[in-house]
Amino acid sequence: VSGRDSSAAEQAVRIVSGTPEQTERIGQTLAPSLQPGDVIALSGPLGAGKTRFVIGLARGLNAAARVRSPSFTLVNEYGGRIKLAHVDLYRLEEGANAQASLGLDERLELGALVVEWGERLPHALLDPALHITFDLVSEQSRALTASAGAGRGLELLAAWTCLVRESGDKA
Ligand SMILES: Nc1ncnc2c1ncn2[C@@H]1O[C@H](COP(=O)(O)OP(=O)(O)OP(=O)(O)O)[C@@H](O)[C@H]1O
Ligand SMILES: [Mg+2]
Repeated sequence: VSGRDSSAAEQAVRIVSGTPEQTERIGQTLAPSLQPGDVIALSGPLGAGKTRFVIGLARGLNAAARVRSPSFTLVNEYGGRIKLAHVDLYRLEEGANAQASLGLDERLELGALVVEWGERLPHALLDPALHITFDLVSEQSRALTASAGAGRGLELLAAWTCLVRESGDKA
C-alpha cells in the first residue's frame, strides 16, 4: 500500500499484486468490512484480475458457490456471511439501464454488489461506491488503485486498506 492522495474528499490508495493468488487474498481481505447495501466498482482492461479479486472476496464471505464470470448472465449471486451479487457489465447493451434491468436496487437491499466494468453503473450507485481500478503492470503484476469520494466508500477504503497493510500485502 502506498501513495495516499488526499485531494479534497477523494482518497486513493495503491496496492500492488504480484500473483493471481495475491489478488485473491487482497479481495478476501475486503470481505470482513462488507455490509448489505455496499457497492464495489471494479474497472480495468480484459484479463486485469477483476474476477480473481471477486473469487477472493466471495471466499472471505464464506460463500459456498463457485465464482464464475457472469459475462453472459450479467449477474451471479453467492450466499455467505452476507449475500454478494457479482455483476459484469461488459456486455451490457448500449443505453441499457443496469440498475433497473438487473434489479440492482432490490439486490442491494439484500446484500452487497461487486461490479466488473463498474464504471458503467449509473451515478446513483457509483458515487457512494468503493472504486478499484486494475492496471496491467507486467504478465504477473497488477496495480490496484482503490478510491472513494463519499460515504460508505470512504469507510470501506479506510477499513480495508488498514487490513491489507496488516496482512503484509504491499507495493
Ligand atoms: N497479479 C495478478 N492478479 C490477477 N490475475 C493475474 C495476475 N497475474 C496474472 N494474472 C492472470 O490474469 C488473468 C486475470 O483474469 P480475470 O478473469 O481475473 O480478469 P478480468 O479483469 O476479470 O477480465 P474480464 O474483463 O475479461 O472479465 C488470469 O488469467 C490470471 O491468472
Ligand atoms: Mg472478469
